[in-house]
Amino acid sequence: MEAKLQRRVQRYGWDKAAQYYEAGWQNALTPAQDKTLSIAAASPGETVVDVACGTGLLTFPLAQAVGPSGRVIATDLSGAMVEAVASSARSRGLTHIKTLRADAEHLSEIPADAADLYTCALGLMYVADPARAISEALRVLKPGGRAVIAVWGARAACGWAEIFPIVDARVNTAVCPLFFALGTGGALEGEMSKAGFADVGSVRFASTLIYDDEASALDAAFAAGPVALAYSRFDEKTRAAAHQEYLASIAPWWDGNRFRLPGEFVVSWGRRAGG
Ligand SMILES: C[S@@+](CC[C@H](N)C(=O)[O-])C[C@H]1O[C@@H](n2cnc3c(N)ncnc32)[C@H](O)[C@@H]1O
Repeated sequence: MEAKLQRRVQRYGWDKAAQYYEAGWQNALTPAQDKTLSIAAASPGETVVDVACGTGLLTFPLAQAVGPSGRVIATDLSGAMVEAVASSARSRGLTHIKTLRADAEHLSEIPADAADLYTCALGLMYVADPARAISEALRVLKPGGRAVIAVWGARAACGWAEIFPIVDARVNTAVCPLFFALGTGGALEGEMSKAGFADVGSVRFASTLIYDDEASALDAAFAAGPVALAYSRFDEKTRAAAHQEYLASIAPWWDGNRFRLPGEFVVSWGRRAGG
């Protein structure tokens, strides 16, 4: 039941967050996306499956790298996110991007042995059963194909982490119960090895999330991300109290001019044996 609820909260929460997502998170996520892209090193003619594609911040650079002789299959649990990518691809005239609304755990419309490259930037933390999603990665990859997965790092290294307990205290279930699990220690690498990936490796690095004022820090945390569904149901009084608590939690990172919150990412990679 918990897993089913988590999937609903994520699906419809990200539907609500889609229109605010880039304004709230793009700058903060660029370092992780750039690292993912450089490790992935997509090349012309390749087939890529980009999972939890969001608005396509990874999808479009991947599409450029593989060129019209390749293709990118962009998938996400949220219909609004998938539609954002589809409409942006249409307006850019990019016919080699295909979109598919799918849970990372079940990419059943993508056949086995289909892809040279699997990418998932900052999506796996939201998946109810990440081990199952990693097995799906292995299934859709050709022998010799590679996967690159980025997640947030350890809770203690992420200055915005209090958003989850603050929201969870006001709803009847945890929004993302295992959010920081994959970014702690060698967990993501370990899950990839356990699933059967070869040549697994990982890099962990720090970054800074910058918000000019309280309003933009609040918008990013509450409206533009994973707690958006729960937040949309809060009444005014609950919102005000949650805002106060969140602002108190990030107050240590106000430098007199703006917020400079610490963040940490882990990017892991592996290869399907053979090929
Ligand atoms: C932080 S965004 C990352 C989007 C994009 N990869 C990027 O780097 O900007 C997280 C995305 O994960 C998606 N997501 C959450 N749970 C998912 C699941 N179980 N399967 C697939 N996508 C999921 C959300 O809909 C959202 O678009």
